[in-house]
Amino acid sequence: MKKTDVARLFADAEEHIGREIRVAGWVRTSRESKNIGFLELNDGSCFKNLQIVVSPSVFNNFKEIANTPVGTALVVEGELRATPEAKQPFELDARSVEVEGACPAEYPLQKKRHSLEFLRTMPHLRARTNTYSAAFRVRSEAAFALHEFFHSHGFVYVHTPIITGSDCEGAGTMFRVTTLDPKSPALTEQGEVDWSEDFFGRETNLTVSGQLEGETMAQAFGKIYTFGPTFRAERSNTPRHAAEFWMIEPEIAFCDLSGYMDNAEEMIKFVVSRVLERCGDELKFFNDFYDKQLLERLKALVDAQFARISYTEACEILEKENERFEFKVEWGCDLQTEHERYLTEQVFKRPVFVKDYPKEIKAFYMRVNDDGKTVAAADLLVPGVGELIGGSQREERLEVLLSRIEEMGLERADYEYYLDLRRFGSTRHAGYGLGFERLIMYLTSIGNIRDVQLYPRNAGGF
Ligand code: 4AD
Ligand code: MG
Repeated sequence: MKKTDVARLFADAEEHIGREIRVAGWVRTSRESKNIGFLELNDGSCFKNLQIVVSPSVFNNFKEIANTPVGTALVVEGELRATPEAKQPFELDARSVEVEGACPAEYPLQKKRHSLEFLRTMPHLRARTNTYSAAFRVRSEAAFALHEFFHSHGFVYVHTPIITGSDCEGAGTMFRVTTLDPKSPALTEQGEVDWSEDFFGRETNLTVSGQLEGETMAQAFGKIYTFGPTFRAERSNTPRHAAEFWMIEPEIAFCDLSGYMDNAEEMIKFVVSRVLERCGDELKFFNDFYDKQLLERLKALVDAQFARISYTEACEILEKENERFEFKVEWGCDLQTEHERYLTEQVFKRPVFVKDYPKEIKAFYMRVNDDGKTVAAADLLVPGVGELIGGSQREERLEVLLSRIEEMGLERADYEYYLDLRRFGSTRHAGYGLGFERLIMYLTSIGNIRDVQLYPRNAGGF
């Protein structure tokens, strides 16, 4: 008999009730009561478990089956029976129970609540718990919804390199890629490391962003997006920073700053409504156990208009509240998470774009505004997370871009290809980067980025 996914049973009970079926999964709980045994089986196809009923009239080894240890992998056949009086709509009346993989008592995920910190010590097992199974399914559905959104809007999906020679953000927080022997690297006559002897004949690093390469594709396809891993060797040990994380980076030609904000707002609303539609059980779980306002907040977001304010306005609001902040705000400073969260959680109570930042605190490629002081950048701040998206209109004017590269002390030779994009049919264009893990934190209300990644990578070890 072919195995049926438990998700199929819940999706179409009518089709299966009264029939013989075969399911395969892992035991979440087992109990014996009044000469009948109940096993809760989870097969990973959905959040819900299937209840298996075992009776002594069918099984000689009834006691043994009714007390199957948690974690055991089973293949079960039997008839699916409707249970109109019970909590669950149906149960499987077992005829045959085969142990595919036994699970001894030292299995650490026995039935009781474990802290997320404890579960972080066993990333290879934790996906079998409710929290992580819900988080990783939301992650999967959100990724699919993002592809759906961009694909249906005519964006071309491009794959930018992981190994690069450029530092897109200019923040100098890159992981070096090298095959030189760390104990005795090739040296120049001056005694410096001789990178020309390295694998690529130059210095290389893991990418911090696919944006610059994405721009080259946007100048051919008009609308593109990347979706891939990015790497930052930041020391910041916060619940929102990871050394390896995934980013979605759309890039749009013939588009300005407000065009980017319109697209990003529509995209977030689309993803949230898809996840509401497809992850009902998972979101209900997070709403019950993590944040009682989660569902209400996500549903409200779909119809809300995101706020849009300038950095200067943000500073005016924040400066009045300086006594509540660890870092005091004044025009010109970089906004910290505490400021971002205050704006979106306390002042606007919804997502807010903050735009037109001082050019000194932003990257070289952002378009200089007419005031000469600020750039056409905008960050999207959301409750519970702070910065979810960073984006900007790009500097399309060759002369202005050249002077920015010089001003910031960057090596012009590294950017010749990027300058070519401004020499040959340059267009206004804009784009943004959405931190995928931060989106999952927002969707689930999980507070630590380490709990939405399979194997989190952070400074200090993993
Ligand atoms: O604001 P960032 O640094 O922007 C860029 O990299 C641009 N090149 C994007 C673009 O315009 N194409 O990063 C974008 C987003 C942030 O808003 C945040 O959500 C996420 O990436 N992010 C991180 N997420 C987890 N861990 C980190 N260390 C992150 N750094 C940035
Ligand atoms: Mg940013």
